[in-house]
Amino acid sequence: MEIKRIFLVGFMGSGKSTLGRRLKTELGWDFIDLDDYFEMRFNTTIKQFFAEYGEDAFRKAERKMVSEVAAKEKTIIATGGGAPCYFDNMQLMNEFGLTIYIKLSVETLAGRLSSPKQVRPLIAGKSGEELKTYISQKLAEREPFYNKAQVIADADVLGVDGFVRIIQASGQLMQ
Ligand code: S3P
Repeated sequence: MEIKRIFLVGFMGSGKSTLGRRLKTELGWDFIDLDDYFEMRFNTTIKQFFAEYGEDAFRKAERKMVSEVAAKEKTIIATGGGAPCYFDNMQLMNEFGLTIYIKLSVETLAGRLSSPKQVRPLIAGKSGEELKTYISQKLAEREPFYNKAQVIADADVLGVDGFVRIIQASGQLMQ
């Protein structure tokens, strides 16, 4: 079946946006970072939205954004780390495009997410062992959803070039 869009899923810090931007260049498709799209549509930051309305409201609004972007063609979408894990978002993404789980170890994720200037509301203020524990618990909760992706790739091993080759080799991309 022809692939009209690609959804990149995975934990915060897994490199969804970096891979998405590379794929944009390689495939000549559009690229949407779902978090940026959200902020543009609601004219606020995610941090601010969480602070004002809370996580439940964020998930409902995020769901709306997922269905909006699912209508676009020749587009790579980097989803937020929680997006696949709420409502039937993962099912919707699987119906509308190729889903790819960028899988990384807790150690690698903790290393990438340990910036003291963290803007992501779920991990703001966490560091060291606390951050590692949070990541490993949250990842265990979320992996059953991420694992519904059509492609599961070990990014500790594969690297961006490897991902690009796999996708180009599928031969089913919309021209
Ligand atoms: C979230 C991940 C963030 C953003 C929000 C919630 C999550 O996106 O959507 O802060 O629940 O994991 P990134 O995965 O792009 O950081």
